[in-house]
Amino acid sequence: MKGYFVFNFGCQMNEADAERYAGQLEELGYSACADHRDADIIVLNTCCVRESAEKRILGKLGEVLGLKKTKPELLLCLTGCLAQKEGERLQKRFPRLDLVLGTAYVSQFKKILSDYLADRRRSAYLDIAGGDADEFAGAKVRQSAYSAWVPIMYGCNNFCTYCIVPYVRGRERSRSEEAIIAELTAAAAAGYKEVTLLGQNVDSYGKDRGEKEAFARLLRRADEAGLERLRFMTSHPRDMTEAVIEAVAESKHICRHFHLPCQAGNNEILRRMNRGYTRERYLELVTSIRKHIPEAAITTDIIVGFPGEDEAAFDDTLSLVREVAFDSAFTFIYSPRGGTPAAVMPGQVPAEIKKERLQKLMDVQNAVSLAKNKALVGQVLAVMADGPSKQPGIYSGRTEGGKLVLWPALRPYRPGETVQVAVTEAQTWQVKGQEVAR
Ligand code: SAH
Ligand code: SF4
Ligand code: F3S
Repeated sequence: MKGYFVFNFGCQMNEADAERYAGQLEELGYSACADHRDADIIVLNTCCVRESAEKRILGKLGEVLGLKKTKPELLLCLTGCLAQKEGERLQKRFPRLDLVLGTAYVSQFKKILSDYLADRRRSAYLDIAGGDADEFAGAKVRQSAYSAWVPIMYGCNNFCTYCIVPYVRGRERSRSEEAIIAELTAAAAAGYKEVTLLGQNVDSYGKDRGEKEAFARLLRRADEAGLERLRFMTSHPRDMTEAVIEAVAESKHICRHFHLPCQAGNNEILRRMNRGYTRERYLELVTSIRKHIPEAAITTDIIVGFPGEDEAAFDDTLSLVREVAFDSAFTFIYSPRGGTPAAVMPGQVPAEIKKERLQKLMDVQNAVSLAKNKALVGQVLAVMADGPSKQPGIYSGRTEGGKLVLWPALRPYRPGETVQVAVTEAQTWQVKGQEVAR
């Protein structure tokens, strides 16, 4: 039997794509290898959102290309966002790279690979508008047995000035509501407990078909699909509506968690980022979420060192973080991406200052996270069991708000089972506790 291995980098959308690659490989008769060195075919599914991701991936590419020296029959496929961006150049530079697929060809991988096996003609499929029909009839090989990714739309139309994603993922294409609901129902029937609905901006769902409030409607239908927990990401502060917040508030299964990237707290920076909202509008949304759902978790993404960010602008980000008191934040140093408007804006911030700001921001957010976690001590949380943690005998899982919880395993747990945990200790990134009887 021939073996495959998929290296995956980047966001959840890429993980969802990797599941489609793995599914098509299995349909062709390949089986998953635990070690990539045993594989007959390796897929490198890549990301290019920041330079650090690119560097890491190019290192990995060098390593797997090296494997071909002793194993010339090994097949190497480069897929995903970096393939879309740099595929042509990389294939010229590395003659041992067999296939390059851009992001619009995920569903056609099986046919492309079969063709390649027949004629061994090295090719690159990079037409961003030319590929995917968006619907995928094949089987997905999911990484988790209880939690599934379900893309509801592909691409992005927002062109935030720092971001490469619209260039490498193409325009927004929404899947049909019927296809999404069918996938949710099938996942529930197959034993999945949790689904995360994915899109770069889920609040744009359906707009490419001219529909309004389609995402709120989709949420209400998804709530009935038989899943215990539904999640969705990412929300865009410009496009999120009251109807979405109400749909979450009135639902039975949608997690009271909003991942709502603010990116910055200063209006001039937000304008230069082309985010389409102000600090005041962002705060209004937070107020509205908390009015409808007082216990809602709110998490965010923040970029420091965007061109033109001076100390005063950065202070506005710090004060926004304090004011909102996010449950957690993903914080990034601005990374110029060739071809995006921000990369050539004046006022690029020196690396040293960016690093300092990141540290300051993390210090502020960590203090907020720790205070929020301390407030949980003594409470009993419903935790969806994920798996054993790295510490022996300690299990881990997540709350509705996405918080990581650790507790000593008293019995075997089924992944996806809900466990009641009384919190005894708070840390910055997680809380610890003891299982209590229901
Ligand atoms: N569509 C989602 C996710 C985009 S990528 C959204 O709009 O939120 C995830 C995060 O990476 C972004 O939210 C942003 O904070 C960060 N990011 C994107 N481009 C970046 C860049 N050039 N440098 C640093 N961080 C970046
Ligand atoms: Fe990038 Fe903005 Fe689109 Fe998110 S919404 S993927 S940050 S362009
Ligand atoms: Fe995701 Fe990275 Fe592409 S964040 S959309 S895999 S550039």
